[in-house]
Amino acid sequence: MNGLFITIEGPDGAGKTSVINELYPRLQLIAKKGIVKTREPGGAKIAEKIRQIILDPKNEEMDERTEALLYAASRRQHLVEVILPALEAGKIVICDRFVDSSLAYQGAGRRIGMPEIRKINDFAIEGIKPEFTLYLDVDSDTGLKRIENQRKGPADRLETESLEFHQRVRHAYLKLAEEDPVRIHKVDARMPLTDVVDASFTAITEAYPQFF
Ligand code: TYD
Repeated sequence: MNGLFITIEGPDGAGKTSVINELYPRLQLIAKKGIVKTREPGGAKIAEKIRQIILDPKNEEMDERTEALLYAASRRQHLVEVILPALEAGKIVICDRFVDSSLAYQGAGRRIGMPEIRKINDFAIEGIKPEFTLYLDVDSDTGLKRIENQRKGPADRLETESLEFHQRVRHAYLKLAEEDPVRIHKVDARMPLTDVVDASFTAITEAYPQFF
């Protein structure tokens, strides 16, 4: 693959969306072969439809393995339609969430177990993995308070989970970051937004100078 696949991960309330919204235009100005910003679940027509089913708070009866399979299905479609063509064209892809989200939320949060989640995702991604992952770390209390304060519409099905659920998600992320320090770059997301964006920008541009 010619391009550079970057993912951004973090628990709810880490500020991923705000960070990407500031980081992306800065990277766009200097990316030699272009950069594509996308997100999961969603990022393509079929994948966005699956997103609506997964996040709809009315879908109370959803089985947790169904949920995990839907995330993997949405990921597959998004990978084929959006991520792979951009990487093949030599672009940088910056994706809001990927397999690590499923490992943390479904594997640990829902307690399905990371090995089971890895298996279904291996089927979905066929070996395509991010080269670099920015992990925005925030404790669950701070994260959940931020979501409460910033919420515009109703909470989605994942946000309404308990504090314990969100703590399991965060611990799983910390474990993943500890196990793979080369790929996963941890940033303290309790810092002011501009500091988080600066730290993220520096980490990416210093790791891959050939793309900028
Ligand atoms: P979204 O509104 O995109 O939240 P955020 O801005 O925090 O990324 O909703 C995505 C939700 O889906 C979020 O709570 C995390 C969850 N999720 C999973 O549980 N598993 C996954 O594989 C992915 C991609 C997301």
